[in-house]
Amino acid sequence: MFLGIDVGTGGTRAVLIDREGRVLASASRDHAPIHSAQIGWAEQDPDDWWRAAREAIDAVMTTSGITGSEILSVGLTGQMHGCVMLDASGHVLRPALIWCDQRTQPQCDWLTEKIGFDRLIELTCNPALPNFTLTKLLWVRERQPEIFARITHVLCPKDYIRYRLTGEFAMDLQEASGTLLLDVAHRRWSAEIAEAAEIPMSWLPRLFEGPEICARISHTGAGATGLAIGTPIAAGAGDQGAGAVGMGILSPGSVSATIGTSGVVFAATDSPVKDRLGRLHTFCHAAPNRWHVMGVTNGAGLSFRYFRDTFASDASYGDLTTEAAKIPPGSDGLLWAPYLFGERTPHLDPAARAAFVGITASHTRGHFVRAVLEGVAFSLRDTLTLFSELGVPVRAIRLGGGGARGSLWRQIQADVYNYPVQLLEAEEGGAFGAALLAGTGVDAWPSVEAACEATIRVAQTIPPQQAAAMDDAYNHYRRIYSALKQISHA
Ligand code: XUL
Repeated sequence: MFLGIDVGTGGTRAVLIDREGRVLASASRDHAPIHSAQIGWAEQDPDDWWRAAREAIDAVMTTSGITGSEILSVGLTGQMHGCVMLDASGHVLRPALIWCDQRTQPQCDWLTEKIGFDRLIELTCNPALPNFTLTKLLWVRERQPEIFARITHVLCPKDYIRYRLTGEFAMDLQEASGTLLLDVAHRRWSAEIAEAAEIPMSWLPRLFEGPEICARISHTGAGATGLAIGTPIAAGAGDQGAGAVGMGILSPGSVSATIGTSGVVFAATDSPVKDRLGRLHTFCHAAPNRWHVMGVTNGAGLSFRYFRDTFASDASYGDLTTEAAKIPPGSDGLLWAPYLFGERTPHLDPAARAAFVGITASHTRGHFVRAVLEGVAFSLRDTLTLFSELGVPVRAIRLGGGGARGSLWRQIQADVYNYPVQLLEAEEGGAFGAALLAGTGVDAWPSVEAACEATIRVAQTIPPQQAAAMDDAYNHYRRIYSALKQISHA
């Protein structure tokens, strides 16, 4: 049995699987709400993740009746980019600034100025974005020097849980790619970036490939969780990396589109494909010696949740999609730009703002819902447009997250992407992928590829049906951002 633990944003999930990839048990525990002292700020308490992780592990073991000694290995995944700062005795110095915190644009500008945009892309494959860990450290240096002076270790969220489980400071290469401190092409920390940013390399944890065993459950970790002392821990991957493993996205041509709170289009590559303009993220893959590119829409599933909570809190998601299914493709000219949290791909603009465009008195609530679902898919298609510019191949697109669950959003995605979309027999998210990495680490399968072959099956392929109508609407959608940019920035 292999255990995957996903330290998400809303909660932590634990999943136990066997060698056939069957899920024997799963359990989730919520986190305290994100703390946001100012617009655009987002912080969480790492010890609250640890509480949720302990409870989820306990729940999964209690409900399955499986004991610690039956669990052969553990894999970790979680929300990426968050900055956890620890002092010399391993204590958390302040709440973590997490992935969606947008406060660090000035620090991004400083770093880009200091290193140079092109050099930054050459070294890390990515531009400085407020989401990335290093920029958060620079903010703490500027605004909270007394805390900065005491930092001895820097970790990402799931790696803090690893530290609590094992006492070890370790990180996988896929996660490390999202810190802006990694030389992504050579799969090692970048001494040049650390030096330019004036961050001691001694703060950075040891690096491992995703399936590598990097630590073992300590006496204290065992006491806190019921896992057995000495149980091996695989390095794992960030949520997007582990999610891709869980969906079998390993070789060039395989692509996924996952709509959770954020939305991600992810393609596996066999070398680091760089976008000169930095519009895509180029990261190490969770599978050894592979890379991936991905584009991120900050407000994907969030768009639908925001719409429902704000304008239709009396209706269920099912009611709303039933209304939307009666509306023709293109929503009779109503468009939604989903920039509720600014935008990453392709605009790299934390000041972008969301908008409905083209409202007339004949639009009903169903039109608005359909426009939201279409607008999110258009925004993900922007990433596919960049893939084709950069020559990243796409054979078919596997759907994941909430966007794969309802038939309307699936068909909208097939039509907007203009590719067949595939649904998997069981799509269990990042925790499942982390469990596959854990199993590979202890030779249950000879490679990550073999793990995916043994456990992942396509259940259904949905062809596009209304691609021409969607093309038309997409071409209008693409003009919204630049038309509204001045107003958003003002
Ligand atoms: C990836 C990203 C999100 C977070 C939160 O770059 O920011 O996937 O990891 O889920």
